[in-house]
Parts: sequence; C-alpha cells; structure tokens
Amino acid sequence: MKFRTLSYILFVSLFAILSCNSTKTVVDRNSAKSSVSIKVDSVLKLMTLEEKIGQMNQYNGFWDVTGPSPKEGQAAGKYANLKKGLVGAMLNVKGVKEIRAIQKIAVEETRLHIPLLFGFDVIHGYKTISPIPLAEAASWDLEAIRNSAAMAAEEASAVGLNWTFAPMVDISRDARWGRVMEGAGEDPYLGSKIAYARIKGFQGDDLSSVKSIAACAKHFAGYAFAEAGRDYNSVDVSEATLQNIILPPFKACVDADVKTFMNSFNDLNGTPATGNAYLQRKILKGDWGFNGFVVSDWGSINEMIAHGYAKDSKEAATIAANAGSDMDMESYSYLENLATLVKEGKVKESLVDEAVRRILTVKFELGLFDNPYKYCDEVREKETVGKAAFQEGVLDVAKKSIVLLKNGGNLLPLAKSGLRIGLIGALAADKTSPLGSWRIGADDNTAVSVWEGLQKYKGNQVNYAKGADLTVGQTKFVSELHLNTTDRSGFQEAIDLAKSSDVVIMVLGEHGLQTGEGRSRTDLGLPGLQQELLEEVFKVNKKIVLVLNNGRPLALPWAADTIPAIVEAWQLGTQSGNAIAQVLYGDYNPSGKLPMTFPRNVGQVPIYYNYKNTGRPTMNEPESVFWSHYSDSSNKPLYPFGFGLSYSKFEYSNLKLSAGTLTKAGTLDVTVTVKNSGQVKGKEVVQLYIRDLVGSTTRPVKELKGFEMIELAPKEEKTVHFTIDEKMLQFYTANGKWEAESGDFKVFVGGNSADTLESNFKLQ
Ligand code: NOJ
Repeated sequence: MKFRTLSYILFVSLFAILSCNSTKTVVDRNSAKSSVSIKVDSVLKLMTLEEKIGQMNQYNGFWDVTGPSPKEGQAAGKYANLKKGLVGAMLNVKGVKEIRAIQKIAVEETRLHIPLLFGFDVIHGYKTISPIPLAEAASWDLEAIRNSAAMAAEEASAVGLNWTFAPMVDISRDARWGRVMEGAGEDPYLGSKIAYARIKGFQGDDLSSVKSIAACAKHFAGYAFAEAGRDYNSVDVSEATLQNIILPPFKACVDADVKTFMNSFNDLNGTPATGNAYLQRKILKGDWGFNGFVVSDWGSINEMIAHGYAKDSKEAATIAANAGSDMDMESYSYLENLATLVKEGKVKESLVDEAVRRILTVKFELGLFDNPYKYCDEVREKETVGKAAFQEGVLDVAKKSIVLLKNGGNLLPLAKSGLRIGLIGALAADKTSPLGSWRIGADDNTAVSVWEGLQKYKGNQVNYAKGADLTVGQTKFVSELHLNTTDRSGFQEAIDLAKSSDVVIMVLGEHGLQTGEGRSRTDLGLPGLQQELLEEVFKVNKKIVLVLNNGRPLALPWAADTIPAIVEAWQLGTQSGNAIAQVLYGDYNPSGKLPMTFPRNVGQVPIYYNYKNTGRPTMNEPESVFWSHYSDSSNKPLYPFGFGLSYSKFEYSNLKLSAGTLTKAGTLDVTVTVKNSGQVKGKEVVQLYIRDLVGSTTRPVKELKGFEMIELAPKEEKTVHFTIDEKMLQFYTANGKWEAESGDFKVFVGGNSADTLESNFKLQ
C-alpha cells in the first residue's frame, strides 16, 4: 500500500463509483469484459486529446537499444513527456528498480495516473535462456514449448515486465533471412500449433496473474518473405500465399486470445504493413475480431517515408492511424502529429478513441489499474530470476530440441568410459554463443558450454583444441570480433589432438549473434575457416561427431556425405552443454524433427516441402532438359522438413483409411502401425500429410495436417490414429473463401515429409 499516493487511491475509488453506477446501464455485471469496458470508457472520458495520443506513444528506455539508437538529448524530452502523461508504454527498461521508478512517474506525477506497459523482447527467456524458438520448434513438443514460454513470462514478470514482443510467428522459407531463428519454421500447421502454445504460455490461463504477461504476435505480416532473404526487404506474395501460408499462425494467436500484435517493417505487395488497412482493419480487427491493440515495429511509422509511401512524418501518422496501428514504437510521429491531424479532420477522433480503448483494456486486464506495481517486487525478483526450476525446465526443452541428422556406424551414443575424446572448435568452449540472438536480458558467459557439459561424464578423458577463431562478420553486441579470421595457427594443435583421440567431437556452426535481426547471410556454409578445419581433421581421424550450433538451416553437403555422425544442436540456451552431453551419451534419446528444410546449397533457397508441383515436375522426364530442375544440383534438399533420427529405429506399416470416401459432414479414420525395432526406448513424431490433387488454385504436393508424439520400448509397436474431416481440407480458394473442394486426395504418414506411406480418398 505504501506506494499508492492519495491521488491514485482517489482515482481507483472513482472507478469503483463509476462501476457501481453501471447498475443503471444495460450491462451484464457478471461479465468481466463488460466491466472492463465500462472502466475503460470512464477513463477515456477524463482524457484530453493529448493524453489519449500519449497512450498511443511508446518510448524506448535509455539503454539496451534494439533499433537505431536515439539521438543525443532525447532522454530529457522523454522524461518530460512521461510526466505530462504523454507516454502509454516503454520498452527496454530493465529490472524492478528501474521499472518501478518510471512507473512511479506515470502513476504519481501525471494528471490521470494511468500506469504504463513495459515491453521487452523476451523471445526465448529473460535471463534463463531456452533454446532459440526455431530449435524449440524442432521438439514438436507443444507442452514443452508452452512451458518454456510460461517460464519466460514468470521470470520476466518478476523483473517488472508486463509485455513481451513474442512470439514471432512469421512462416519462413528462406534460411538466408537471419530471423528464421526467431520463429517456428516453414510450416503453417506446425507454426499455428506452436504459436497457440506460446501465447498460452506467456499469458497463462489468467492474464491478471502476476506470473502472466501480455504476448505480441509479430510481424504482421509477410516479413519473412523478404526478397532474397535480406532483412527489411520488400515482400511481394500472392493473396493465396498470404492466406494459406502466412496468416494461419496469426489467426491461431487471435484464437489463443493474444493481447497485442506488432506490424512489420516490410511493404507487402506495395503497401507498407504499418500503413496497411487491409491487414490491420479488414483482416485482423474485422474478419478475426481481434480486440487487443497493434503496436508498430520500431520506428516503422516514420519508415514509411523511406519506403516512399508517405512524404513526411505527418502523412505517415495519418496513414498509420487510419490503417489501424494503435501504438507508435519510437517514431514519435503520433505524439508530434496526431493532435493536428484530428483537428484538421484527417484522422477521426473516434479512431484515436478506439486505439486508446484497446490499449487501456489490456492495462485493465493485466490488473495494472488495481496495482501498477504488481510486477515490481524486489523479493520476488531475487527469488525468481534464474531459479533451479527454470534451469531444469530449459534443460528439458533443450534436450528435446536436438535433432540427430546422421549416425553412421552407430557412432552415437558414446561409451561412458575408456574413451579419449578430442573436442575441437571455438564454439565448443563458448559460453555466450549458445544463448543465441535475442537474449538481451541475459548476461554473456552464462551458458553451459559443450566442454563443461562433457566434463560431467567422468569416465572418459576429454581434451580440447580450438582450431581456429570464429568468424562472425559484422555484428553488434559481440565483445570480441573476428571479422575475417585467416589465422590457421591453431590447426596443428587440433590435428594432433584428433590423431591421439578415439573419437573427435567438433562443435562448429554460427555464433549466436550471426542470426537474428539484421543478420542475413548469402552463404549458408560454415563461416570462416571451420569447413577447412573439419576437412583437415577428417584426414587424420574419420570418427567425427559433428555437433552443429546454428540459428538457421545450413547447407553442408560435404559433411552430410562424409562425416559419420551429425547432431543439430542449434543454439540451446543456458543449459546448452548439458543437453548436448546428455544426447551424445544417450541419457536422452534424440527425438527432434526439423521444422525447416535444410538445403544442399544456397541456390536452392527458398526451399520447402510444401511446394507446388509445377507443370513440369521433376519425376516426369529426368533425362531431359525441359523440366523444373537445376543443371548443377539436385532438387532434393539435404534434409527434408520433419526429418530427425533416434537411437531407436522406427518402422511404419499398415497405413489404413476407414473408408475411401469422406462426406462433408463426416470423418475418416487413418491408422498406421509404428514399431520400435531398435535396442532402446525412444520417441517418434508420427506425421500426417495430405495432398489435394486438383484445386481451383494450384495446391502443394503435401501439407502437414496432424502429428503425434509416441514413445515406444524396444520391440513395442503402437497403432496411431488420426481423424480427417472436411475442415482439415479447407484452403483459400479461387472464390476468396476458406472452403474444401471435392475431389481426390492423397494421405501420407511417416517420420518425415519425404519418407512416407501413402493412401488416398475422395471428398464428396
Ligand atoms: C524491431 C524488431 O523487428 C521487433 O521484433 C522488436 O520487437 C522491436 N525491434 C523491439 O525491440
């Protein structure tokens, strides 16, 4: 109570009175929603136009910039505006002490005492870091993913935050784009399931719980389709691709009751997303009935000037506000222009009211009006950050995220004693890189390295040689840069170590900050000298386990052909080294499956499993020139979507459909037998794909429509069931509607998208 000033108590009492008066209105008093809207309206009535516009303004804090840095002297102006009630939300303010101090200005020094939202990019954890989201998607374990988001929310809420800019639900097909690490990969079905799980994890069952924070579905929309995979680049996609591929995970977020959306930097088919009324007003707020608010991306309102879509900041504000962008992140454009625009009649005040209503609603739902300092408890902060249960939780999801790509001669799992292990690669000892990109709340050097993880197994002797420094290219936030390493002086030590080892573990890949925002690449190989190092070591010892650390699919055809064992270990967060060690030693039997196709070479990109057949598909005339192919590369990926091995061996048989025909109101049962013919217990993700053979628009060769994770003991077999109904066959047709079209369909079931059993049916 001590933090509540008299004026704040008066303010809360005013709500109580206003709410009591509502008995006279035609309102369902049992409905939480309607009572919130009464309170929101009561606040809105008290607000001047300037104060309303203030709610639509979000400032970055004065440190930890996640976009272009603010200019000198802006801090003073920001403090002044805070006091005037001209700020609705902040971002990048860290820790209870700082957040409380700023909240205090809003709550105790402004005329209306409206609390602030505090947003932060809690993308895969705040200080305790989970695997990068792409890695988590490889777990296909929705409960583990939900739990990871819930832990992140609990930790973030304990440091005072009440809003995360996550999940990123952009479907990505282009590994050159640095932000593929932040999403769930290439598939709209898997992406939708994961989006839903993440929203539920962040927001919990009750948004007003102190452990819940508001989530943000981003980037609306099309951002991952940036031409040539270059971040912020233009996006040109058909309506069919927008509807069938890009939008479904966003819709899943609305279904999960996400409280906020973020629009995106890109232009979409000629209109910047930030100024796109079709996306924000028609689809999101109209068709889908989204009742939260939309925040712009960092400075994206003013970026419409550079896009060549607005001539100045005033025009940009007009376009953004009319198009449904409710809050301006760091453009200052609403604050500078909206009042004039309302007075000139270029933006209706009713639209401002609508935006403010949406923003205040989220503040009420979070419980900030009841207690604006509810997340500001130093004791809870101390007890919560980094707690043991989080360490266990992130280790659990890290193990589940690892994908075994190759295991020639059953090199893995390693024996627990009697081995001389040579551990090679700069990443093997790195304690920062495993945290990945977007972990701005975490401290450097806080991840368990692979070297440390392996040392917990005392039976073997592990010796380490770096081999070469990592080339990280031009990047920010890395304390030590090796822009273009040409120093091979460590090679000999690595080669000598390999010669005297029974088995070599090479940890190679990308530094954690080589992916993420602004980190697109044109080469998908191992950066720097790593490929050369790998080949040199292979000359002296063929028993190599290649552990990959990377934030995007890599193109490693030589390694895939030559190296006996390959483990895709992404950037796994705080517990990285422990998770990797447990998989290498078989204490966890790998169960992950790729959420993105791995190409053979960068020229194949964008490459994805749910491609269209074309008029000249590959199987027709392989010996002829005139078919859809490359003259210098196979069309096939290095590793397909859904692929991942196990120390168990799974055999699929007996694919059966309950009937040959599906009626529009009926269902079809699909059954398949899966047997573990290996020696150890293991988990398998059984995947169901469907192909619609003829459509009013061309259809993909395969679409994921269901999956189930099963666990089988050695020699055990299970019958797995899926149900097909008409809804699963719907797509955005040539009529501009979601509907299923009757005709022939194929059904595929298997352990990855390329290796499946097949059957078929008709939709009547
Ligand atoms: C820009 C990024 O695109 C967005 O995802 C992020 O949330 C904001 N910056 C804030 O850091």
